[in-house]
Amino acid sequence: MPNGTLIVIEGIDGTGKSTQVRRLAEWLTSQGREVVASREPTDGPWGRKLRESAASGRLSAADELAYFLEDRRQHVAAVIAPALAAGKVVVLDRYYFSTMAYQGARGFDPTEIRRLNEAFAPVPDLLLILDLEVAAAHGRIGSRGDSANEFEQRENLERCRQIFLALRHEPFARVIPGNCGINTVTARLQQAVRLAGLVPCSAASLAAP
Ligand code: TYD
Repeated sequence: MPNGTLIVIEGIDGTGKSTQVRRLAEWLTSQGREVVASREPTDGPWGRKLRESAASGRLSAADELAYFLEDRRQHVAAVIAPALAAGKVVVLDRYYFSTMAYQGARGFDPTEIRRLNEAFAPVPDLLLILDLEVAAAHGRIGSRGDSANEFEQRENLERCRQIFLALRHEPFARVIPGNCGINTVTARLQQAVRLAGLVPCSAASLAAP
């Protein structure tokens, strides 16, 4: 898949990923790229089961991991790989780094999760991690009505956040603070895409937002 570009936005719940994915897709389109925006879990059969389980009672840790892997396998085959092969930009709202973080927080080894995924899922050109303190992110989403109490939910999200932050050392990863206002976050994401050389840029456009 030599021609396309894969950009992934990650972060714990409440960091504003969906808005930023939409804005980034619109901006990339305005820069003349053909864009496919998508999300995980998907709206396919495995993704639907995962969303239902969030309401009806969480799956066992092993089933949950297996369902996320199946969902992603289908997503790569049906959407991501064909779009990259056609030279498009694919912008994803969550990808296998969410499995490392969330199923890692549930007890699996994040390194092993990564290995399982990279056996079939393309590594992104750019991973943008929206970072917010758990208290701030949790305040934005409010309580989700889980059976876990609020303290457990926060502890769990803190583990996820730390797994995401540990990815900052990857050459393709950038951490973007999520607490600087929605328009500033948008500008910083665009700047990261330009600096990565993924859209044509002028010197002026590289100035800090
Ligand atoms: P989310 O993007 O928050 O979905 P929605 O748009 O319905 O709010 O994802 C749902 C949850 O799934 C979220 O809490 C993170 C979790 N998740 C995992 O646990 N592992 C994964 O691999 C992915 C992609 C998501």
